[in-house]
Amino acid sequence: MRSTLNSQPPTLDTKAWRILHDAREERWADHFDGRWFVQTREARFPEALLALAEGVAESVYWRPRDKAAATAPVRITGAEVDGPFTVLENGARFRIDFGAGYSCGLFTDQRLNRRWVREVAKPGDRVLNTFAYTGGFSVMAALVGAETTTADLSPHYLDWTWENFSLNGLDRSGHHGAKGDVFGWLRTFARQGRTFHGVVLDPPTFSRSGKDTFRTDRDYASLAALAMAVLEPGGWLLCCANTHRLGADSFQREVFAGIRERKRGVVSCEAPPMPPEFGGDGYLKTLRIVVE
Ligand SMILES: C[S@@+](CC[C@H](N)C(=O)[O-])C[C@H]1O[C@@H](n2cnc3c(N)ncnc32)[C@H](O)[C@@H]1O
Repeated sequence: MRSTLNSQPPTLDTKAWRILHDAREERWADHFDGRWFVQTREARFPEALLALAEGVAESVYWRPRDKAAATAPVRITGAEVDGPFTVLENGARFRIDFGAGYSCGLFTDQRLNRRWVREVAKPGDRVLNTFAYTGGFSVMAALVGAETTTADLSPHYLDWTWENFSLNGLDRSGHHGAKGDVFGWLRTFARQGRTFHGVVLDPPTFSRSGKDTFRTDRDYASLAALAMAVLEPGGWLLCCANTHRLGADSFQREVFAGIRERKRGVVSCEAPPMPPEFGGDGYLKTLRIVVE
């Protein structure tokens, strides 16, 4: 008898994910199509990982996390990764660079949120991706035919975003880059009456905005309120908070407070867990919201 579980041929569209997430021992490894990027809190490579990598990883690179962000990872075993390469995730191609410093181009903890953006964005929608880093959410929205605006302080990351666009055969025309402070841009867009059908908010834990500082665990309501001012009626909001300091309930309270401040209501709200390979760690909170 055929098993119904196996009756559909699988569509494999992802070759990047977290392969080890050990929050207790503080060691993490991301798998990028056979190349592993290992990070540890300790300044010593955990030799036990080599058994896990045997026959699974083509190369293993390692970087202790508490070293200066710009420290390039060292090769522990396997073939040399001699420059940036491309990896498939959610059917899209992304440029990965182990030597890039801060992170190598793709945060694997956002994998299922990127997938969600691919599902929720519609052709012709205007989608705003804030704190965009290398533009992962923008690529997903653009691939379904949305018109994207990608906002980040860093011109380098905006260039990386455009590289990711070209890797996916996406023409940049009709897509916008907004270099500079997201808080400033949200105010400018609101003044200009520029609105979006979907907004992604994924701020770092701490950020500067002009003379002010933004802290995810303290200031999320004001960020959500700013986003509300540019969101079309019936639009969606993807809110993420990457911090252990803010519990899931407080996070939702903050976001809802920002929405209410603009006299908008919530039509639906989903709070999905992190991808399963993160083993129940909940540092990244997500709310997928549709507003009135
Ligand atoms: C944690 S990363 C965001 C990850 C991204 N959302 C993703 O899923 O790939 C934070 C990004 O925010 C940018 N950033 C930090 N503060 C900012 C600000 N005030 N305005 C605009 N971008 C900012 C940084 O340059 C960095 O690219």
